[in-house]
Amino acid sequence: MEVTKAVIPAAGFGTRFLPVTKAQPKEMMPVLDKPTIQYVVEEAIAAGIEDILIITGRGKQAIERHFDKSYELEEALEAAGKTDRLNRVEEIADLGDIHYVRQKEREGLGDAVRYAEKHVGENPFALLLGDTIIESDTPCTQTLIEHAEAHDVSTLSLERVPWAQVSSYGVADADIDDDTDLTDESFPVSDFIEKPAREDAPSNLAITGRYIFTAEIFDALDATEKGVGGELQLTDAIRKLTDIRGVELTGDRYDIGTIPSWLRANIEMSLQYDDGEMNAAVEEFLQERFR
Ligand code: G1P
Repeated sequence: MEVTKAVIPAAGFGTRFLPVTKAQPKEMMPVLDKPTIQYVVEEAIAAGIEDILIITGRGKQAIERHFDKSYELEEALEAAGKTDRLNRVEEIADLGDIHYVRQKEREGLGDAVRYAEKHVGENPFALLLGDTIIESDTPCTQTLIEHAEAHDVSTLSLERVPWAQVSSYGVADADIDDDTDLTDESFPVSDFIEKPAREDAPSNLAITGRYIFTAEIFDALDATEKGVGGELQLTDAIRKLTDIRGVELTGDRYDIGTIPSWLRANIEMSLQYDDGEMNAAVEEFLQERFR
């Protein structure tokens, strides 16, 4: 298989962020000076993917505007000699070939992914959740693509999370001990459970929000009934795939879906921001605050 397309679902309500998400999409929440979804698009591009489909919905127009050209702004920045900011703004409109499709009813992640079928056809594709940033030396999507292409099967990025958190994730059932070193190797997964109670979780290997799928996923979604929360769950369709592998995530994952995790993303990423000013200012503030 050769993966040349990416799909980014960005159609949810962002309920956990209300009221800030009342009129703006959760995926536009800023982390430092970029909206979250820009990091996700950049990850796909860094993995060599140029063809990107974003699944939007009502109230998500800000996403399309963000990736569009902004002539008036660019002229104003140029006239003011603000070259650095101008370059940053111009770069955005050059990020790949971005397409959009609107999900009509908000019926869950699985339903959103169904809207990609016309665009991706029979091709395999990468699915990147629009509210999750992954920072790693090799882009997570690139690592996944390499593993998926090596075995020619759908492959998911998984991360060991604290057991107390398993009920927030889709969780893998894989024949692996807690201390097995999974680095560099993909491994077969026999089943998944979406948001299990801790006592029902087959492992603490959680789905991180990065997936490579063969087109088989669309038939699986068609054959799936609504699940947890009355929504069509992608994880329930994944269970129907004949062959599926996992790869352990290396790198830092920031799910910006809750206020504490979004704040953490901003603080941690500002400490790593290499401009010589922001990281120093944030570090100084934290040291003062917790002295
Ligand atoms: C979704 C998926 C879940 C996955 C999680 C990762 O859940 O349904 O399987 O583990 O993303 O963030 P959500 O966070 O949208 O509830």
